[in-house]
Amino acid sequence: MNICHPNTPTLISQRDSLLKKTMRPDPLPYDIADEYPIVLNSKNSSFSHCMMESNKIVAHANLWPRELQLQQKRIGIGLIGNVASHPDYRGQGHIKTLITHLTTEAKRQQLAALILWSDLTQFYQKLGFSSVGNEYRITINADAIKNFSQASRQFLPTKPEDLTSKELNQMLQLRQTNSTNTLHRSCEEFATLLTTPDCKLLCQYDKAEVTGFAIIGKGYDMVAVIHEWGLSGINDIKQAVYDCRELLDSPSITLLSPGVVDEKWLEEFTRASAIIERHPMALANIIESSLIDKESLDQCFIWGLDSI
Ligand SMILES: CC(C)(COP(=O)(O)OP(=O)(O)OC[C@H]1O[C@@H](n2cnc3c(N)ncnc32)[C@H](O)[C@@H]1OP(=O)(O)O)[C@@H](O)C(=O)NCCC(=O)NCCS
Repeated sequence: MNICHPNTPTLISQRDSLLKKTMRPDPLPYDIADEYPIVLNSKNSSFSHCMMESNKIVAHANLWPRELQLQQKRIGIGLIGNVASHPDYRGQGHIKTLITHLTTEAKRQQLAALILWSDLTQFYQKLGFSSVGNEYRITINADAIKNFSQASRQFLPTKPEDLTSKELNQMLQLRQTNSTNTLHRSCEEFATLLTTPDCKLLCQYDKAEVTGFAIIGKGYDMVAVIHEWGLSGINDIKQAVYDCRELLDSPSITLLSPGVVDEKWLEEFTRASAIIERHPMALANIIESSLIDKESLDQCFIWGLDSI
């Protein structure tokens, strides 16, 4: 078994073409690496793990060490993503071996747990992962959204490159009020993640202060999904949904939210005939049970820009 980081331009382009071929069936106007501006950045090749056979990448996975803000503590965890094997090399146990390798690597880095997002629940269960946390997916159609107008101050499209670190910090603070147990993210990381193609940021201002924001879209994923927000009441939420729909002109908007929300918000969306679904937030494998337990992970929510 030979697992390495893609630390040459040739290996990086081989990795990106494997991921594009296996994960992006439709042609896209941007490269897959642009969709993951941190973990697939050529400067961060240590986050990429490639399984090699005769100088060819046969399988790939990212491991991104992050810090989970849990009550007053910060705990190291690893995010796994961009898991794929070459179509000619499937069913040979390469992904199993790679995930086992990442578990060993995470132990070496003293990470408490591994977290990933996948529909292949059974596959990952066999590797020790189980569902954690909860999230709401609230889908509202365009007709109902029309009645959301003028609920509060407007949310306007904002260019990420124009944001100051004060504004980015204000957004991180606003987001924190909706979910305290989440990943720590620096302003620099936030600014980089906002460069993801097809990711739109809408901000609400009171004079020079950011008072609310919503982020919709993220590359190939999360089309018409508000996956990250800092909104302080139902009127702001309705207005943000309204302004996002106006911007995208989409037939519906989905709002992704932590699994614990004000009952009144849900009542309001029920009145608007929204489809309200509650799902597990992610799959996790606890590596160091003295550092974290399932109950703590269940209280966490990871926002869209962090999921890989
Ligand atoms: C899903 C994928 C990564 C599996 O790769 P692989 O190289 O076949 O995986 P392995 O050989 O290590 O694992 C084989 C095991 O996974 C199971 N498996 C493979 N693909 C599966 C799928 N789509 N759904 C459920 N189980 C699957 C096999 O049944 C086998 O189980 P077993 O050990 O009990 O026999 C690969 O098909 C792929 O790259 N798909 C496209 C990209 C993708 O969907 N990535 C997943 C994102 S999380």
